[in-house]
Amino acid sequence: MRKNLVVIGQGYVGLPMALRAAEKGFSVVGLDSNSAVVEQLNAGVSHIDDVADAELEAGLRGGYAASSDPRCIASADVVVVCVPTPLSSDGGPDLRPVASAAQAIGKHVASGALVILESTTYPGTTEEVFAPLVVAGGLRVGTDVHIAFSPERIDPGNVEFGIKNTPKVVGGLTPACTRAARDFYAAFVDTVIEAKGAKEAELAKLIENTFRHVNIALVNEMVRFSHQLGIDLWDAIDCAATKPFGYMAFRPGPGVGGHCIPVDPSYLSHRVKAQLGYAFRMVELAEEINTAAPLYVANRIWQALNERRIAVNGARVLLLGVTYKANISDRRESPADPLAKQLLEWGAEVSYHDPFVPEWEIKASNGVRLRSLPDAVAAAKEAQIVVLLQAHSCYDLEDLPDRSPIFLDTRGASKNPRTVRL
Ligand SMILES: NC(=O)c1ccc[n+]([C@@H]2O[C@H](COP(=O)([O-])OP(=O)(O)OC[C@H]3O[C@@H](n4cnc5c(N)ncnc54)[C@H](O)[C@@H]3O)[C@@H](O)[C@H]2O)c1
Repeated sequence: MRKNLVVIGQGYVGLPMALRAAEKGFSVVGLDSNSAVVEQLNAGVSHIDDVADAELEAGLRGGYAASSDPRCIASADVVVVCVPTPLSSDGGPDLRPVASAAQAIGKHVASGALVILESTTYPGTTEEVFAPLVVAGGLRVGTDVHIAFSPERIDPGNVEFGIKNTPKVVGGLTPACTRAARDFYAAFVDTVIEAKGAKEAELAKLIENTFRHVNIALVNEMVRFSHQLGIDLWDAIDCAATKPFGYMAFRPGPGVGGHCIPVDPSYLSHRVKAQLGYAFRMVELAEEINTAAPLYVANRIWQALNERRIAVNGARVLLLGVTYKANISDRRESPADPLAKQLLEWGAEVSYHDPFVPEWEIKASNGVRLRSLPDAVAAAKEAQIVVLLQAHSCYDLEDLPDRSPIFLDTRGASKNPRTVRL
């Protein structure tokens, strides 16, 4: 008999996993509180880069449907929660979406179900925040209901690693919960790894994110003095990366974006501070350096213009690629925003080109709503400085510097000798 799966949250994480499970024979309801998203999904229109409309349509024909009615939880054998875990206004964890999903589960879940939290969060959330709401009706964990945490490892835009071939870590509140979660994922993921418990699985995800955050901060700090010393840091990193052991290459850029790096490690540092009273200094330092990266780019724009006796005030600055990573349309926490805000506040005339972002609102005291210029080469000719923020594959990075008065490359991606590297 087909198993019933409910995936709560149909965003970047929840939709691909719901469709993958449907493909593997589950009867899946994609539950989302946003009724516009539900309507769009049921009409076969995907809002996620990595999910093509054809894939969604195949899902709709083969066992998947979206809904905003939590009563579907009542007939679920498995419920997976993929709701957002943002920061609150004071920079701490905002677990309201997780809590509201857990409350909905607690209200409707049937005895015998397996409930898994996938949203990235601090260690202890599954046991202390999530589970008590799920079992509020009196079910017992480990016998009536199995509860586990399994971190999502999705990498938007990655064509090599998807749900099937990215190993999945699971950690339950009891050994029986871990085994139940393992057996569920084994149906559609090649490799499942059992953590000692939910806290270890929660921390595993934050180790991965913090590792990236800290190492990106390391090169974002090094790029400043390398520039002043006249050293090409990208070349030095390429050389270091030839060492076949003990090194992993990270490269500088205009700052970090998305969810995993700017937001998730703060969940961990906040938890350490709140529970133990001291700072997780590595994360705080990485945050400080990576947050300052867009402002460093602004200063380098100022410097490059200044060398040509051009004031930033009134200068025509063209930004190329305003998403948080290349070849996707996700703009969450993109470093393009603080950079553009600074440039506008200095009086620059900011324009941009990005095939993935037709419109962009820059929030500043003198903020503007811009439309992407249609042609990058024509726009480059009109600008006084062109700044590459994301090396989308549509850009000819060897040709563009020849068309631009100044071409500032924050990615170290162009080999053209006219390019100014960050
Ligand atoms: N996007 C990524 O690359 C990525 C990678 C790894 C982990 N994660 C983690 O996965 C989690 C989900 O991230 P995402 O990028 O998929 O978020 P998202 O914003 O793309 O999607 C979340 C969806 O959940 C819905 N939602 C919110 N609260 C709800 C509720 N109570 N009930 C039902 N639906 C609700 C929203 O309407 C939205 O459609 C986060 O914890 C994030 O840190 C994301």
